[in-house]
Amino acid sequence: MKVTIAVLPGDGIGPEVTAETVKLLQTVATRFGHTFEFETALLGGCAIDATGTALPEATVTVCRAADAVLLGAVGGPKWDNPAAAVRPEQGLLGIRKALGLYANLRPVKLVPALLHASTIKPETLAGVDLLVVRELTGGIYFGARQEATVEQPVAFDTMIYQRDEIERVARLAAEAARGRRGKLASVDKANVLASSRLWRRVVSEVLAAEFPDVALEHVLVDAMAMHLIRRPAAYDVIVAENLFGDILTDEASMLAGSMGLLPSASLGESLNRHGLPRGLYEPIHGSAPDIAGQGVANPLATMLSAALLLRHSLGLEAEAQAIETAVEAVLAAGLRTADIAYGAAGALGTAAMGAAVISRL
Ligand code: IPM
Ligand code: MG
Repeated sequence: MKVTIAVLPGDGIGPEVTAETVKLLQTVATRFGHTFEFETALLGGCAIDATGTALPEATVTVCRAADAVLLGAVGGPKWDNPAAAVRPEQGLLGIRKALGLYANLRPVKLVPALLHASTIKPETLAGVDLLVVRELTGGIYFGARQEATVEQPVAFDTMIYQRDEIERVARLAAEAARGRRGKLASVDKANVLASSRLWRRVVSEVLAAEFPDVALEHVLVDAMAMHLIRRPAAYDVIVAENLFGDILTDEASMLAGSMGLLPSASLGESLNRHGLPRGLYEPIHGSAPDIAGQGVANPLATMLSAALLLRHSLGLEAEAQAIETAVEAVLAAGLRTADIAYGAAGALGTAAMGAAVISRL
């Protein structure tokens, strides 16, 4: 298979973790007889420094021409001034919107070797295997907003949803549930928000009409925040609007022990030349400016994101599983980067961890 992958290393530890992942993908290509070509482009703070904007037009062009996009992370203290007109995060939101990536899949699976690394009791974590589907191109992230000024110290953001935006993400989440344990929990705040009442009604209608075999429950977002640490194994697929999904997935990442382990896939309607979704794949962690450039970041979440890329955008299931199995083997062998070493001596750096995974492919 001949494939073009756009690589957006971004800022902070982004370039370090994507570099190891590109090496991993190159090894996969050689092993399985594929040709992967990589096109690197600027996004986030590095793009602001080089071009004055967080999402240069050239980057959108590179991504649209690619079969899939691999992203590191964006942002850092250098560009943190909240009053600045251009911010790295605009690049991330902009590329999601430009590629029409309305669904963000964030799987959270317990790694047995790291059961004791979580702050949650092992007996609560047993059996955790959930998939959060976060709506990614609507809601309060993209609704009308007004910034406060000194003269007018009032600001607002708008949580807005249209029926079709809810329908498509509900459908995608229900489809995913059908391929798993057949359970879908839809998150909202329908006791307060009008957009949540529409969300709840549309999700119910889509499920009743098209997925009678999927068991649906509605859970208020505050209750879900509690259930996620109280009985996380009870959930299969969780679907949530943009902001609720953002918050709940940081919480859910702690079930797996570290944010350094969780991958994500963002999918939409746009298809690549293999007839599969032109997805964007990124670790859910941020740019970690405090450890950037030191070669100590954990590359595993990005490597697992590459596995999702192979699965969803290229249909290469065996190749995807080869990466996931290699990562599991590395963790089972006791190899740790500093974020999951918890004081144990001998933590590996980014390159050594990357090489350890590659050697187990
Ligand atoms: C995420 C991040 C982003 C988001 C930020 C960096 C804009 O938190 O991908 O979860 O809020 O979507
Ligand atoms: Mg987030």
